[in-house]
Amino acid sequence: MVGRGLLRELPRILGELCPAHTYAVISDSRVAELYGLRVIEEVRAAGRRAELFTFPCGEWNKTRDTWAELTDALLHAGIGRDGAVVALGGGVTGDLAGFVAATFLRGVPFVQVPTSLLAMLDAAIGGKTGVDVAAGKNLVGAFHLPRFVLTDVDTLATLPKAHIAAGMAEAIKHAVVADASYLEAILADAPLIRERDLPALERVVMRSVTIKEEVVAADPRESGRRQVLNFGHTIGHAIEARSGYSLTHGEAVAIGMVAESTLAESLGVAAPGLTAAVRAALKTFALPIAVPEELSDADLLESVQADKKVRAGKVRFALPESIGSLPQRADGAWTVEVGPEAILQALAASR
Ligand SMILES: NC(=O)c1ccc[n+]([C@@H]2O[C@H](COP(=O)([O-])OP(=O)(O)OC[C@H]3O[C@@H](n4cnc5c(N)ncnc54)[C@H](O)[C@@H]3O)[C@@H](O)[C@H]2O)c1
Ligand SMILES: [Zn+2]
Repeated sequence: MVGRGLLRELPRILGELCPAHTYAVISDSRVAELYGLRVIEEVRAAGRRAELFTFPCGEWNKTRDTWAELTDALLHAGIGRDGAVVALGGGVTGDLAGFVAATFLRGVPFVQVPTSLLAMLDAAIGGKTGVDVAAGKNLVGAFHLPRFVLTDVDTLATLPKAHIAAGMAEAIKHAVVADASYLEAILADAPLIRERDLPALERVVMRSVTIKEEVVAADPRESGRRQVLNFGHTIGHAIEARSGYSLTHGEAVAIGMVAESTLAESLGVAAPGLTAAVRAALKTFALPIAVPEELSDADLLESVQADKKVRAGKVRFALPESIGSLPQRADGAWTVEVGPEAILQALAASR
C-alpha cells in the first residue's frame, strides 16, 4: 500500500491483515521519536496492545548484538507467539526487525512500515532480512515475507535530503536493470525530487515497487532473475563495509554501479556509454561516483570475494547490457563470472 497519510490507517489495517495479541513496534532512535510514539498511541487508542522497542540509529547497529538486545527485550516484555512485529523505519530497521520477527520464537508475523525513501522503494519489498557481520554485509539473515507493506509517503517530509539521494541510487538501479523509460522519468522529475516534492516521490516509489515486486515474484529466493537487483551491490557492499559505514548504503551502491558498469564495458557485456549514462544520472542527485581514495583496490577485492554472491570462489556480477536491459545470458545465467584482474582494473578506472 502506497499513499499519503496512510500511517493513520495503520491500526485498522493491522487489525484486518495482521491480527495479534500485542504489536512489538521496532524503530531506530530517530524514527521512534518522529513517528514511533505516535504509532503506539494510535494503535492503543484503537484498543490494541502495543509496545515500542528502539535501538540507536545507524547502519553500524545492524548487528547480531542489536538483534540479541531486541529479542531479549521482546522476551522480557512477554511478547508471545501471538505477537507480531511492526518494522517502522528505514532499511536498517526493516532488515533488523524483520530478522527479529523471522527468528523470535521460531518466527512471528511482521509488517513493514518503511519511512526512508530507500526502504519504501526497495528494502521493504521482497522479504530479505538480516544483519551485517565482521566478514561483510547481510551475511546472516533469513527470507521472511511481511504480511503487508504500508508506505506513507508523507513521512518523507522529515527525511534528510542526503537520504533522499541515497534512495534515488536504488531507483536508478531499478531503471538501469529493467526500464529505460523510468530513467527518463527520474531525470525529468529530478528537480522536484531533490526538493522532496511528495507527489514526485510517490511516483518514484510506485514505479520502483512495481519493478521490484515483479522481479521478486518471479524468483523469490534469488536463484535466478532476482540476481539482477544485485547490480552495483557486489562492489557497493565492499565499499560500504570498508568505509566503516561512513558512506550510506545508497552512496556505496552509487559508486558500485559506476565500477560495475565500467566492468560491463571492459568485458564487452555492455556497449560503451553505459558508465557515462549511469554517472550522469547519479550526479543529478549529487551522489558519489568515484571509489574513495582511502580504500585500497586490494582490500576491496578481498571484501568482494567474501560477499555471499560468490559461488565456488568465483565472483559473479549482474551486469547490464545497456540502460534498461539486464537479460539472461546465453548460458542461462543472469550473472557473469569475473576474475580478479578485471575487478581490480574496474576499481582503478573508477577513482
Ligand atoms: N532487504 C532488502 O532487500 C534491502 C534492499 C536494499 C537495502 N537494504 C538495506 O537497507 C539499509 C539502508 O536503508 P536506509 O538507507 O533506509 O538506512 P536507515 O534505515 O539507516 O535510514 C537512514 C536514516 O534516516 C533516518 N530516517 C528514516 N526515516 C526517516 C524519516 N521519515 N524522517 C527522518 N529520518 C528518517 C534513520 O533514522 C536513519 O538515520 C542497508 O542496511 C541495506 O543493506 C535492504
Ligand atoms: Zn541496496
